[in-house]
Amino acid sequence: MNTKTKPEKSRREFLKDLAMGGSSLFLLSAPWLQSFAEDKPVSLSLSDQLSIAVIGTGSRGTLLLTILLKIRETANIRIVAICDNYQPNLQYAQAVCRKNMCEVKTYSDYRELLEQEKLDGVVIATPLTEHAAITMDCLSAGIHTFCEKAMARTPDDVKRMYDAHKSSGKILQIGHQRMFNPIYLEGMRRIKDGEIGQVTQMRAYWHRNNNWRRPLPDNNFDLERQINWRLYKDLSVGLLTELMTHQLQVALWVTGKVPVSVIGTGSNVFWKDGRTVPDSVSLTYTFPDGVQFVYDSMTSNKKYGLEEQILGSKGTIEFEANRFYTEVPPPAPGIRQLINNIEHGIFDNIPIGGESWVPERAVEYKGEELMPEDFYEDSMLQMEAFANFIRQGKIPHRMVEEAYYTSLWTLLGENAIDEERKISMPDHYRI
Ligand SMILES: NC(=O)c1ccc[n+]([C@@H]2O[C@H](COP(=O)([O-])OP(=O)(O)OC[C@H]3O[C@@H](n4cnc5c(N)ncnc54)[C@H](O)[C@@H]3O)[C@@H](O)[C@H]2O)c1
Repeated sequence: MNTKTKPEKSRREFLKDLAMGGSSLFLLSAPWLQSFAEDKPVSLSLSDQLSIAVIGTGSRGTLLLTILLKIRETANIRIVAICDNYQPNLQYAQAVCRKNMCEVKTYSDYRELLEQEKLDGVVIATPLTEHAAITMDCLSAGIHTFCEKAMARTPDDVKRMYDAHKSSGKILQIGHQRMFNPIYLEGMRRIKDGEIGQVTQMRAYWHRNNNWRRPLPDNNFDLERQINWRLYKDLSVGLLTELMTHQLQVALWVTGKVPVSVIGTGSNVFWKDGRTVPDSVSLTYTFPDGVQFVYDSMTSNKKYGLEEQILGSKGTIEFEANRFYTEVPPPAPGIRQLINNIEHGIFDNIPIGGESWVPERAVEYKGEELMPEDFYEDSMLQMEAFANFIRQGKIPHRMVEEAYYTSLWTLLGENAIDEERKISMPDHYRI
């Protein structure tokens, strides 16, 4: 399949093709792709309209709601209700629905929503500490559930959510949208097909330069923890649960394995403003066979942005940059080589630093694009997949498990930082 030219097809069709034509190793690594390949709904037919509600209509919930409104016809979805316990956000989301010709019922208590509405699926985008109880209540009410990442604030709650999914037989999908990102899927196809050789290290970072604070309405400090929950350690693990968890999921996906240990450190270097989560963290996860995932995140410098780099014996993939590099770049045309030789002083007759010394600068070869830049709408594909999973009545093999171990190891990363020691996984969290 030629993935270099901009596809005429929809993203959904592209994923379908990827699923149909992919090697077995690749398909084993991304079993959720079959959701796009299988057009035969098992549980509900395409003509059955799915009733969906959104719980938590803040920043992310409103984005997911907007996506659901966008795909409601193609996915045959009806958004029946929204719920938020903060009136301004509930009203704003209701206005978004009205603007899109959609009348929804509004609830400020999700329990009442579950009692009153007959739902096929629910989308949860509340703060981290609210995920577990709401998810478990939805699953035990027999509703297929999509919950934003990370799964929960504590490892025990992560495990409870997984157990509730298993015993309910209902879908639990966690918001790791990179799984549905065509760039990541194409990169993963190349990795699984051996194009970068043996994966020997994974490096990732997420750097921002802002205080991560949201303004308080009317400067009302009573709302501080409710609005800025990300900054308080009892409510969030900050950079780990908000950012790293996405990138750690990629590492689990690349290796197809679960880490064996993590070490880490975290400190508050810059934003000394009452927050109780670190503004700088660095962690190293070790996977079986010794492959490491080396990570850092900060909020006081954004020069390097964010990236996940997969380093192999024959090549490298940078997912965010959308690039693939071979270790041995293809030869440049003759004239370019001559210019390079002159620029890099190959013809200089005075050796620098002795005869055995060669400069080990970064390779400047620009590599090739994995996928046309604008071919990218992972959150929408993720919502389409959720509707497909509901229709098929099942979630693909390994998808929840990968999310489970990602959330669990994110939280074990916090333990490594807090306890200043190497952490392995307690046996009772194995599934
Ligand atoms: N996948 C992604 O890329 C991505 C991006 C941003 C946020 N997120 C995740 O989405 C979730 C929400 O993040 P956000 O930035 O939208 O936060 P937010 O604070 O903007 O929104 C959360 C909303 O949930 C509401 N809420 C809190 N408790 C509730 C309850 N018990 N019942 C109903 N509503 C309740 C709040 O009032 C608020 O409106 C988090 O888990 C976050 O990690 C994911």
